[in-house]
Amino acid sequence: MTRIQEDILGLSFEEADSILKTITQISDKIVFSTSFGKEDQVITHMITSNQLPIDIFTLDTGRLFEETYAVFDRTVKKYKKKIKTYYPNRDAVEEMVSKSGPYSFYENVEARKTCCAIRKIEPLKRALSGQEVWITGLRQAQSSYRNQMTPVEWDESNQIVKIHPLFYWPDDKIEAYINVFNVPVNTLHAKNFPSIGCSPCTRAIMPGEDNRAGRWWWENSKKECGLHQTK
Ligand code: ADX
Ligand code: SF4
Repeated sequence: MTRIQEDILGLSFEEADSILKTITQISDKIVFSTSFGKEDQVITHMITSNQLPIDIFTLDTGRLFEETYAVFDRTVKKYKKKIKTYYPNRDAVEEMVSKSGPYSFYENVEARKTCCAIRKIEPLKRALSGQEVWITGLRQAQSSYRNQMTPVEWDESNQIVKIHPLFYWPDDKIEAYINVFNVPVNTLHAKNFPSIGCSPCTRAIMPGEDNRAGRWWWENSKKECGLHQTK
């Protein structure tokens, strides 16, 4: 851990906008990961409207919804900010699909984690390499597992400080921000998809279900792919 990273871990903050501004005064190696979910769209709006020197990247797993590409396109056009796009290693995808077929992830948790490792985790490592701070749109209210996380964390496997500037924001605050600032959102949110990942691994939720119930719905797991699961 560098001294700059230690300083950032010691910061306290109330508001996301000010934390983003504060961090840019401490480090110039900050990246924000977007999957174009509503939280990510709020952060993209904050970064671009304040012209903050934070690079934005996305991980295109190759299995995203058409609606996700649509909001990706609208976002690039509206904010005129480059979104660096990382793809999985071609050889690894070819080997996995040739050996196990296109839906291997439904077979068991191990096969699903293999797919997530190839399509998300390895590209993520490349995206974070050489950076000091990783900003995400993760929120406490998204699941009971995430409820136990903290807004600032040390990510040992990626050797990076992770900051979730909207960590304490409730759903209605996100909605209010989107309405006030006319932020473009994924049209699937209006069809009961509060959390959106890869298309074959995400379904709409039923009334009363957890926000992340539609992710890997056939599994009885923590519903994490490894991007944010440190234990
Ligand atoms: S996931 O681990 O279950 O896929 P989730 O969809 O809740 O994560 O998103 C939480 C945060 O992880 C997002 O706000 C974003 O910062 C990051 N993230 C998730 N998926 C991607 C992706 N495909 N590309 C870039 N960042 C992502
Ligand atoms: Fe593969 Fe599904 Fe993970 Fe996407 S969410 S990387 S399709 S297992």
